[in-house]
Amino acid sequence: MRLRPLGMLSVAAVLAAGGLVVAGEISQAQDASAIIKERQEMMKENGNAMKTIGGYAQAGVGTLEDVSAAAGTLAQNAIDMPDLFPEGTSMTDVTDPENGAKPVIWEKWDEFLGDADALEFEALKLKELADNGNADAISAQFEILGTEGCGGCHQTFRQKLD
Ligand code: HEC
Repeated sequence: MRLRPLGMLSVAAVLAAGGLVVAGEISQAQDASAIIKERQEMMKENGNAMKTIGGYAQAGVGTLEDVSAAAGTLAQNAIDMPDLFPEGTSMTDVTDPENGAKPVIWEKWDEFLGDADALEFEALKLKELADNGNADAISAQFEILGTEGCGGCHQTFRQKLD
């Protein structure tokens, strides 16, 4: 006799499979929202680092050590940045939390990576100036860091939120 009582088994299998799919979707949504919050925190940290550097460059607040540390943070964040933008986390994919990652990021991923590299490059340049005590050059490099390191990417890839 080859027939086995599959009826109950297949119902159980379907339920189990359905359960897995649902669980997968829920945890993906949680991952997406956690990762979006994490990258927004990182971007805020970038903003604070720029304030530290700008304070020194424009008002003589703080020390070259502060500038060096802030530039080091920016360089490290630039390296970590791409991992915080997995596919499926654009502003149209996820609306809670609200986010400003334009879908074009994943259409021009290489350009996005290039912009993150530019941030790392310009931040390391600034760090070197600070480490070498080259205070007079900080201001000009701060401007470049802002336009090339932050502005370049934001212009194409970020939707500013209110
Ligand atoms: C490679 C691209 C890229 C670079 C480089 C970059 N950003 Fe961003 N930034 C984004 C994107 C995309 C968002 C929107 C992210 C989101 O809302 O999830 C963003 C958002 C922000 C936000 C808003 C965060 C929030 O809480 O909504 C701030 C502040 C910010 N960036 C500051 C900076 C500063 C300062 C720099 C340079 C030191 C910088 N960013 C460099 C892509 C970049």
